[in-house]
Amino acid sequence: MADHHGVLEDVRRGMIPAHIYNDKELFELEKERLFSRSWLFVAHESEVPEAGDYVVRRVLEDSFIISRDEQGQVRALFNMCLHRGMQVCRAEMGNASHFRCPYHGWSYRNDGRLVGLPFHKEAYGGEEGFKKKGQTLLPAPSLATYNGLIFISMDPDAEPLEEFLGDFKFYLDYYTKQSADGIELRGPQRWRVKANWKIGAENFAGDMYHTPQTHTSVVEIGLFREPKAEKRKDGTTYWAGNGGGTTYKLPEGGLEERLRYVGYPDEMIARMKEQWTQEQLDVVGKDGFMISAASLFPNMSFVHNWPRVEEGSDEVLPFISIRVWQPISENETEVLSWFAVDKNAPEEYKALSYKAYLMCFGSGGMFEQDDVENWVSLTNTAAGSMARRLLLNSRMGMLENGENVVEALSPEEYSGPGATRVGYSEYNQRELLRRWADHLERPVEAAAQVHVGSDPVQAPPAAGSGPARPACGSA
Ligand code: FES
Repeated sequence: MADHHGVLEDVRRGMIPAHIYNDKELFELEKERLFSRSWLFVAHESEVPEAGDYVVRRVLEDSFIISRDEQGQVRALFNMCLHRGMQVCRAEMGNASHFRCPYHGWSYRNDGRLVGLPFHKEAYGGEEGFKKKGQTLLPAPSLATYNGLIFISMDPDAEPLEEFLGDFKFYLDYYTKQSADGIELRGPQRWRVKANWKIGAENFAGDMYHTPQTHTSVVEIGLFREPKAEKRKDGTTYWAGNGGGTTYKLPEGGLEERLRYVGYPDEMIARMKEQWTQEQLDVVGKDGFMISAASLFPNMSFVHNWPRVEEGSDEVLPFISIRVWQPISENETEVLSWFAVDKNAPEEYKALSYKAYLMCFGSGGMFEQDDVENWVSLTNTAAGSMARRLLLNSRMGMLENGENVVEALSPEEYSGPGATRVGYSEYNQRELLRRWADHLERPVEAAAQVHVGSDPVQAPPAAGSGPARPACGSA
């Protein structure tokens, strides 16, 4: 493999070798050195609320069954049979006490333990010949949750999730903890775009600069209360822990007034006041900023916006979306886009918020359409020989000597944590790509061998098979 040190050094100083957005060799390096050890979002606990509920999610080529077992514990089980390697569960989601492999019929409980083996005695000599006990579907090496968001890592020694998130937790709460019961999700919508996965992650992390150009038409048709897309420059960007995002500047007013301005009903505002810390409330009420889009390194993003949902009305309504930029190759990404809403929100609010989301994002959303056209074109152009000679300028907000153009905001001006600045900059995009470069430069140790017979999920002893719900997989 070529020496990429020069490429990574260019990235660190904000000059981006154009080919990093369509480079097969770098994609192999990303798989080996980045996605093999970073925390990656796979599902939300509200998608598997009951015992036996499961969804099937991929991390690159690896398929995982995210299930809630009979004890209520969330599992991430590698979806590959211990016998001859068939994909055990081929449905996208459902409820099952057991998963039965379609190939020869081995069956597993929803905590991963092997419990059924056809012709056990004839084929294997029964328990004497092959003990089922201790055989489990392979669990993801690390699993942790925050506010119900389920993350896995392929690194068994991954740093604790909360440390990885760091101060980004402060911002995650705006999207995922508007009341004590958190959020519920709808979706995900899934579709593929012929674009490199990094472009979406960078865009959502901090690209307020593209709004007036790329999304002019959306603003012109009056979808938003603000008449000019240029208003984006009045907001702040923040980078905290391993994530960063953008905010909108709100008009004068107190906390309630400002939350009402973006369309939250009073009963939701009352719960936010109980749920959020004083600093979280102050970012909105005292400092006058409302959280907008964000990205968590490497490939998870968030949206919070408040369009008009009824034509001709001045009323706006907020929506939240969570998304993953799932790499398929160096020039293709599967987008997973969920609608998220406070579990305790009024039903009417939930319905209108969903409508607001669908208008803007998701496979048919107006913002999504605008964005993807750019990202596909960029990826295409990055494939050729000339792109290997070009350094893209991603130094917005940075002087020639590397210093920032805009000073960080003081605690009096901004109550949230992290590096915060007002106005257009590419500070956050650089932070994201610096982490990318750091990962790519660090070799990984060989993956630990997993031996048949180990019991890595440490499942409690079997308490009988119980009443079986329909098993996943066709016989
Ligand atoms: Fe044989 Fe699964 S591959 S039972």
